[in-house]
Amino acid sequence: MRIYLIGYMGCGKSTLGRRLAEKMNLQFIDMDEYIEERNFRTIPQIFTEEGEPAFRLKEQKALSELSEFAGVVIATGGGAPCFFDNIGLMNRTGITIFLNIGPDILAERLLSSKTERPLIKGKSKKELAAFIDETLQKRRPFYEQAKLQITEPDIDLNFLFTQIEDL
Ligand code: S3P
Repeated sequence: MRIYLIGYMGCGKSTLGRRLAEKMNLQFIDMDEYIEERNFRTIPQIFTEEGEPAFRLKEQKALSELSEFAGVVIATGGGAPCFFDNIGLMNRTGITIFLNIGPDILAERLLSSKTERPLIKGKSKKELAAFIDETLQKRRPFYEQAKLQITEPDIDLNFLFTQIEDL
């Protein structure tokens, strides 16, 4: 069993992923942490030193490695499904779940988040809202290719579990 959680920054993929992995007795992997460990640098460092295109290549490589892991729940980076054929690879090798959270909640959560995210660093509240609207519109068609969609990060895991089994 291999489950990929996808969705915008701040939608709660890691939190849900940890809960789901525990419930299903699977290993939880945060893809951003995996990239950081493999490259001996933080995500912000990779963006600053090499730029976004280089980060996307490292992300693609990480995903191709992780797509061979078994018994895992993987929380992917917010942009991961939207580059190369990453969403295709995820759909071919596992169960994809889109955590579909509205832009207002995302903005609120990202403003109060302590995680450093290079793409939104230094943005005012207004700039952040505009950035989310613009990028979410471009990313949605990729996210919507997921096999399952949920709109509630606190979803009842038994219910989610039955949906996964029904696939
Ligand atoms: C990104 C999301 C981040 C991280 C990187 C780029 C994006 O992951 O991969 O900063 O393009 O949306 P989270 O979704 O875990 O914040």
